[in-house]
Amino acid sequence: MSNSGTSGRRKFIKTTAGGTVAFTLGLTGLNSLLSSFAEPGQDDIHVKFNTGFDQQPLPYAYDALENVIDAKTMEIHYSKHAAAYAKNLKEAAIAEKVDINQPVEKIFAKVDGYSAKIRNNAGGHYNHEMFWKCMRPKTENNKPVGSLKDAIEKELGGFDKFKGLFSDAAKNRFGSGWAWLYLDAGKQLKIGSTPNQDNPLMNISEIKGFPLLGIDVWEHAYYLKYQNKRADYIENWWNVVNWDYVQQRYENKG
Ligand SMILES: [Fe+2]
Repeated sequence: MSNSGTSGRRKFIKTTAGGTVAFTLGLTGLNSLLSSFAEPGQDDIHVKFNTGFDQQPLPYAYDALENVIDAKTMEIHYSKHAAAYAKNLKEAAIAEKVDINQPVEKIFAKVDGYSAKIRNNAGGHYNHEMFWKCMRPKTENNKPVGSLKDAIEKELGGFDKFKGLFSDAAKNRFGSGWAWLYLDAGKQLKIGSTPNQDNPLMNISEIKGFPLLGIDVWEHAYYLKYQNKRADYIENWWNVVNWDYVQQRYENKG
């Protein structure tokens, strides 16, 4: 995954079984590298500086989530909408002399100092890169695993309660936006939503922290299959959440 330009050799490995994605990082001293990028306070919320400006391969085929997200929606969403965010981000960055070799996460920390075009497209690019990895083919009895499962029980009252609160945040986001499970500055699990292509890493966001799981509730994410029934899309989406990846992010590996 040659998307950072600052972090040395990275080998991108794609596995089709389970749609999981793994990285081999050719790094020495990952922690020192990350801390060297960290803005004040960001190291406290597990910010990972590893998203480049280029769109990465989709970790599964367009039809891999077919019973939840149809292939045509996936194709248009990935190859048109998300691709445009990456393209427009790069164009704007070059035009505005913004370093395209830095991780996108660095922009979010001071996003109020950038143009609306940079903000919207950096957010759109980052959010979608994360969104694809947050999904995998449908899994029976799909639930969190490991330490995240324990934390959801302890901090959010259990999976069912968490699922209800997260779903409500997604349903109630007026217009276009995202709902998130994120870690706040105190490393506590929180649920919230952001408008448009904002995310909790942005310094202008009402909710701040490190996103662990996000759902895209723009109509382009579901309208072909679900039309106006956003609630049905959200309910079905729980079957394709890649809890192994969310767990990686929770363990500070994402
Ligand atoms: Fe989207």
